[in-house]
Amino acid sequence: MTNTTVAQRVSVIGLGAMGTALAKALLAGGHEVTVWNRTPARAEALAADGAQVAASSAEAMAAADLVILCVLDDAAVREHLEPAAAQVRGKVVVNLTTTSPEQARALGRWAAAQQVELIDGGIMAVPEMIGGPAAFVLYSGASAGFERFRAVLELFGRAEFVGADLGAAAMYDVSILGGMYAMFAAFRQGGAMVRSTGGSAARLAALMGPFLQAMASLLEGYAPGIDNPADYVQQQSDEFTAAAIDLIDKSAAESGNPTQLYTVLRDGLTGL
Ligand SMILES: NC(=O)c1ccc[n+]([C@@H]2O[C@H](COP(=O)([O-])OP(=O)(O)OC[C@H]3O[C@@H](n4cnc5c(N)ncnc54)[C@H](OP(=O)(O)O)[C@@H]3O)[C@@H](O)[C@H]2O)c1
Repeated sequence: MTNTTVAQRVSVIGLGAMGTALAKALLAGGHEVTVWNRTPARAEALAADGAQVAASSAEAMAAADLVILCVLDDAAVREHLEPAAAQVRGKVVVNLTTTSPEQARALGRWAAAQQVELIDGGIMAVPEMIGGPAAFVLYSGASAGFERFRAVLELFGRAEFVGADLGAAAMYDVSILGGMYAMFAAFRQGGAMVRSTGGSAARLAALMGPFLQAMASLLEGYAPGIDNPADYVQQQSDEFTAAAIDLIDKSAAESGNPTQLYTVLRDGLTGL
């Protein structure tokens, strides 16, 4: 029997949209799943699918070798994990709750004092994508614990271990989300701008989507110059970039739209 087919005892604490999707993937993968949610009704459907429902978060943690937390925020994680130190001692805990890098490191200091192998995770998917081909999850922290349960974690999506620093997964996570939000902000404003000329956001989406995909393929080429500034090869001069952004800024103003977004981009991309 290979490691991928060994049924593990796994707990999921938090059955919101994401926690429920994670628990379903674990059940589908044949694992022994114990769940707990603050509002018990959210566990009912999973119980029907074969999950054990614990009466408390500590009871759920005691029932598993691998403990997964997916609650609202860092405060909710600490509220349930800290009183359950005895239940998680010697175990692997994976926190898939979105937190900041420093919150992850601070929880790591607590975990180290309790002999808990802590892994922090950043889920790069919405609940409907969990277990599908496009989902991936970033992990950092306890690498031995990650390797031990890699086959279980792969059930959620591709498992990417990004470093021993517990803050690493969260830092990659927010950096990727920063790119996403910049794209959505520019699209939202662009939609308003093209509408001022009788165009539509729908037409813009059809034109902008493929262009941005082509631009995204250039990111890897920029990386060496960011990783090592001595290798930096400027693709466009600051003057060129500033002039291009100033033109967007001017066009936004002409169409009666705000210009702050482009001011920030100009500052971020050029030294001018
Ligand atoms: N949804 C996504 O697309 C997505 C993607 C990536 C990462 N995430 C992350 O996954 C985590 C959960 O997200 P979600 O989408 O499942 O959110 P959600 O549907 O709003 O669920 C929030 C969960 O947190 C629980 N909770 C809140 N405060 C709590 C407390 N003090 N003690 C115990 N439980 C508490 C809620 O319990 P009740 O049911 O009792 O309210 C519920 O189970 C978040 O950190 C989120 O950033 C979500």
